[in-house]
Amino acid sequence: AALDAFVAGLPKAELHLHIEGSLEPELMFALAQRNHIALPFADVEAVRAAYDFSNLQDFLDIYYQGANVLQTEEDFYDLAMAYFRRAAADNVRHAEIFFDPQTHTDRGIPYSVVIDGLWRAAQDAQALNLSVSLIHSFLRHLSEDAAFDSLAMAEPYLDRLVGVGLDSSEVGHPPSKFAGVFAKARDMGLMLCCHAGEEGPPEYVYEALDILEIDRIDHGNRSLEDPLLVARIIDEGLTLTVCPLSNHKLCVVPDLDMHPIPAMLKQGLKATINSDDPAYFGGYVNDNFLALTRRGLISKKDCVTLALNSVDGAFLDPDRRDALR
Ligand code: HPA
Ligand code: ZN
Repeated sequence: AALDAFVAGLPKAELHLHIEGSLEPELMFALAQRNHIALPFADVEAVRAAYDFSNLQDFLDIYYQGANVLQTEEDFYDLAMAYFRRAAADNVRHAEIFFDPQTHTDRGIPYSVVIDGLWRAAQDAQALNLSVSLIHSFLRHLSEDAAFDSLAMAEPYLDRLVGVGLDSSEVGHPPSKFAGVFAKARDMGLMLCCHAGEEGPPEYVYEALDILEIDRIDHGNRSLEDPLLVARIIDEGLTLTVCPLSNHKLCVVPDLDMHPIPAMLKQGLKATINSDDPAYFGGYVNDNFLALTRRGLISKKDCVTLALNSVDGAFLDPDRRDALR
């Protein structure tokens, strides 16, 4: 309990959170009812029972299905506000959240509906002592042309976005597939993030660095297989947004006792702890810290380092960063 209070007391930033992955089964049912959508589950318990994944794709199939209940601006607002309240309760003071526009626009929901709902919630989060930035994420199992179309939809809303990301099925969809659209996003003034080395090989992390020229690495676990790559990431000062409970649920690590966060810190990588898709993986950011502290994998001092890394790795202006340190 002393450890819980210590972790809870640390001001922190959450840098790897998919807002669609914060959809709790209770809200999924409430939105299904509000929008007259039939769910393939009898009740909330049946939904939770279905969250048993053996890899990333298993999860993605059920995650995209869950997102179908999101229809109106109010739905996106309610989804985001629920996460912001939960994050604020964990003493998250700044959140940079991914959203997957193509998951919604491809089923006929206008981009404006998605971003207006998320943006209004982001404004209201200020009352929770929480600042929020939005990251438009491309689905890598779709084409680069589709990503260009999605970025075009974002153009009228550029002042509401801090960056772009790349998520969904990693293996077979390397970063190089999106070289053109990432170059364009950079020219538009956006920061660049990329999921790499979650299931994909170290080569994908190299591509994210060399070809996309990213500003932050999401996951990056498999970088540890290549000492030269580790040295390169350290040299470039890049932050890794690591997600312990996600890694366990998606079998990226066989056991939480073998989680690579301690090795990352030991080698001098700027690792951070994040929740990824907390409604699906069984815990918010403090739960992710505690999963490692309770196993004796990281010390209190490590927790402080990880929390400071999250503030340092955020896309924040210097004044806001100083206020959070
Ligand atoms: N990896 C890839 N795509 C995703 C994830 C993830 O962890 N979460 C939501 N989309
Ligand atoms: Zn993710």
